Amino acid sequence: MMIGRWPFIVLFALAANAVGGGALAADGSAEKGKIAYVKHGCWQCHGFAAQGGIAGPKLAPDPMPLVALTSFVRNTRGAMPPYQDAILSNADLADIHAWLASLPKATDFRSIPLLNP
Ligand code: HEC
Repeated sequence: MMIGRWPFIVLFALAANAVGGGALAADGSAEKGKIAYVKHGCWQCHGFAAQGGIAGPKLAPDPMPLVALTSFVRNTRGAMPPYQDAILSNADLADIHAWLASLPKATDFRSIPLLNP
């Protein structure tokens, strides 16, 4: 009987997660982070692609470490409103951080022929 590659990929992912002691969850999920980023309104100031917006600076690519991001979001007293734990959980923040970290860097303009006459 012919079995596709799927079952093996799923098994491998489950095994890796078990061996890692749930490390995947602790590291945050980029997919959930994208949703949390929109749900909590970060996009209103930082842009939908976290590229920076009218009110807030760019957050990606190369976001600050999760500890620094969490500390900033919880304690900011500047132009950005602070988010308490009850509104935005540490798990949501870890997810948002994972999403920010997953965003690709912009293409180097030198590699685009049209921009290099
Ligand atoms: C009302 C507008 C607004 C919203 C909504 C907002 N921010 Fe901000 N954010 C700002 C501004 C303005 C700054 C710069 C403030 C400063 O440096 O004191 C900032 C700074 C930051 C920084 C520091 C960036 C750096 O390089 O110093 C992080 C991280 C951040 N925001 C994350 C978030 C996240 C995550 C959310 C959603 C949960 C969010 N922000 C929602 C306006 C906003």
